[in-house]
Amino acid sequence: MATTDQDKRVALVTGASRGIGKAVAMRLAADGRHVVLVSRTEGPLSEVKALIEEAGGSASCKAADIGDGAAWQSAVEEVISDEGRLDILVNNAGITRDNLMLRMSDDEWQSVIDVNLRAAFIACRTAARSMMRGKFGRIVNIGSTSGVIGNSGQANYAAAKAGLIGMTKSIARELGGKGITANVIAPGFIQTDMTSNLPESVVETVRKSTACSRLGTVDDIAAAVSYVSSDGAGYLTGQTICVDGGLTMC
Ligand code: NAI
Repeated sequence: MATTDQDKRVALVTGASRGIGKAVAMRLAADGRHVVLVSRTEGPLSEVKALIEEAGGSASCKAADIGDGAAWQSAVEEVISDEGRLDILVNNAGITRDNLMLRMSDDEWQSVIDVNLRAAFIACRTAARSMMRGKFGRIVNIGSTSGVIGNSGQANYAAAKAGLIGMTKSIARELGGKGITANVIAPGFIQTDMTSNLPESVVETVRKSTACSRLGTVDDIAAAVSYVSSDGAGYLTGQTICVDGGLTMC
């Protein structure tokens, strides 16, 4: 049976202007979702929207600073009101402010917690009401292997990403009976702007410790998000799936 625009699932992807978020948005659009692209500024989002439309998909843009809690909550509410529904939420946007714990400032700590953890909580809380009305939802939080095994210089980032795991499990328990799943996709080392400044020696060490002997691509992550956000993944919830080429195996 053909899908009409009315029953097209609506997905919101944060940090969709580049890197993993852009690849996830393009993949979900190729899967037939209407994708709401979120990032701080509209310009780069319009380019992603144009790419999606050129490929025959549909998307809209929402500029928002997810680090500003009240403004972010209003932005998610506006998306739900504009689109009439929200079925898939991908909390992908993230930042790093790396420093050794002894040197880490309160600001470095708090800004990473606000963007990587609190923003995801706000979006989940706001989206869940709409998902409950539709008796369907897929929450996908983009974590990191740093949140599973820790990483020197990333006490703030690892705490936020580990926090996402606990939060996701709790949400999965609260909403599982309502047709809503919640999972974490935890990437290992993926080639994006976030990792482009790493010294070659670090990249080589990572490559050697990775069973697949390579860094990941953004499409490796998009493929995993595509599956956990699909209608067929309704019995998969509360999980942390490390898409890391076998780096951690835990
Ligand atoms: P990136 O730095 O290339 O892109 C981040 C995106 O988030 C951009 O669109 C940026 O505009 C957006 N963003 C950042 N702060 C924002 C804010 N306050 N408000 C709205 N948008 C904001 O990052 P990348 O590499 O694509 O990472 C995406 C996610 O994957 C992040 O959560 C990151 O922690 C996670 N990850 C990435 C890994 C990697 O190797 N690249 C490894 C493990 C996890």
